[in-house]
Amino acid sequence: MKTVYIAMSADVIHQGHINIINEGRKYGKVIIGLLTDEAIATYKRLPILSYEERKTIFENIKGVDEVVQQKTLDYSENLEKFKPDYVVHGDDWRFGVQKIIREKVIETLSKWNGQLIEVPYTKDISCTEMEKKVREFENTPDNRRAKLRKMLTLKPYVNVMEASNGLTGLICENSKYVDEEKGVSREFDAMWVSSLCDSSFKGKPDIELVDLTSRLRTIEEIMEVTTKPIILDGDTGGKTEHFTYNVKTLERLGVSAIIIEDKTGLKQNSLFGTEAKQVLDDPHKFAEKIKAGKTAQVTKDFLIFARIEALIAGYGIDEAIARAKIYIEEGGADGIMIHSKEKDGLEIKEFLRRFREYSKDIPVILVPTSYNQFTEEELNEWGANIIIHANHMLRSAYPAMKKCAESVLEHHRSLEASKDYCIGIKEVLSLIPGTKQ
Ligand code: SPV
Ligand code: MG
Repeated sequence: MKTVYIAMSADVIHQGHINIINEGRKYGKVIIGLLTDEAIATYKRLPILSYEERKTIFENIKGVDEVVQQKTLDYSENLEKFKPDYVVHGDDWRFGVQKIIREKVIETLSKWNGQLIEVPYTKDISCTEMEKKVREFENTPDNRRAKLRKMLTLKPYVNVMEASNGLTGLICENSKYVDEEKGVSREFDAMWVSSLCDSSFKGKPDIELVDLTSRLRTIEEIMEVTTKPIILDGDTGGKTEHFTYNVKTLERLGVSAIIIEDKTGLKQNSLFGTEAKQVLDDPHKFAEKIKAGKTAQVTKDFLIFARIEALIAGYGIDEAIARAKIYIEEGGADGIMIHSKEKDGLEIKEFLRRFREYSKDIPVILVPTSYNQFTEEELNEWGANIIIHANHMLRSAYPAMKKCAESVLEHHRSLEASKDYCIGIKEVLSLIPGTKQ
């Protein structure tokens, strides 16, 4: 009996998948190489259904003889292992990001004269559209909250972009970078609701003046139109009695994590460094606040991260490491964020080296605003698990708007500004999903 190998990820199963399986059955015993959750997370969002759930579904589809794990997008390992006579796939992968994978499949199969059979792609079915619909439907607070913790176990690192309102939220939700030649497709994993940007978009200073009620409105605005997990910049977390209450509110909304920083007194933005008076909290007192939050939380998914400001305030790496240990051991923090405004990244690298001697797996968050010459991969190699691009929507929008305003003043009309700085009204309308065209 000949063997047929079919790789699938399939969260949403439709006629197209069944067609491929039926085609496979004509040639022999059908082995489904089902992509693991980790494999899916490397090229798109977390699967809606877990590997085990998807496996059960495939095992019960008529014509499927066996379901095996495919651990990477690349088929090679499984092809070498099972040496199938045939691989069956839709013909849509001749173009686009999967082109490279296809070429490798043909090359590998040729070693034992295996053959690739391509089935005409089932038209009128867009997996992406179907998945989008399902995602909206499964976007409950419980599901959404749980996503970040899950990502931390499935992905080498989580990349995060600032979102400060519905529109920037949509940009984080939908932005994609695709390089077909290299077979790359990337998007953001999660969103950061920054105190700096939330305040700045309101024209207010970043000193905990914009209160939590207002911050929650921002979060809700973002949540209404997006599905990715949210990390809240919780400033100092305020009074412990308030913090414990707020943790529950955030959990109820479906926020995945809060980061609070070990400062006290009037909070100043960290990027001022020692130019502003940065007063650090007593580390044991701060650990108690974290601990109170961890005790108060009602779900198992919510994460509380302790943000260490020792480097920002000029106290050095020893102090930062000592604080990290206190926040983890006394406070039960789920991870730490280490912040720095040094441009060379050296203190961050050294901190991570020492922290990774202490713990291999406790999540560490970086905000590489000052040391942005390093790629996410490099920072991940140093030991970072979450990388936050904390203010880049605000900082890119502002100069464009300012130039536009100045142009109207200069020319006494909007013709030039419209041409130089504005997109068309039709494009504006198309930014928002659900707008009638
Ligand atoms: C924020 O985005 O508000 C932050 C990060 O707290 S930073 O501005 O770098 O302090
Ligand atoms: Mg902040």
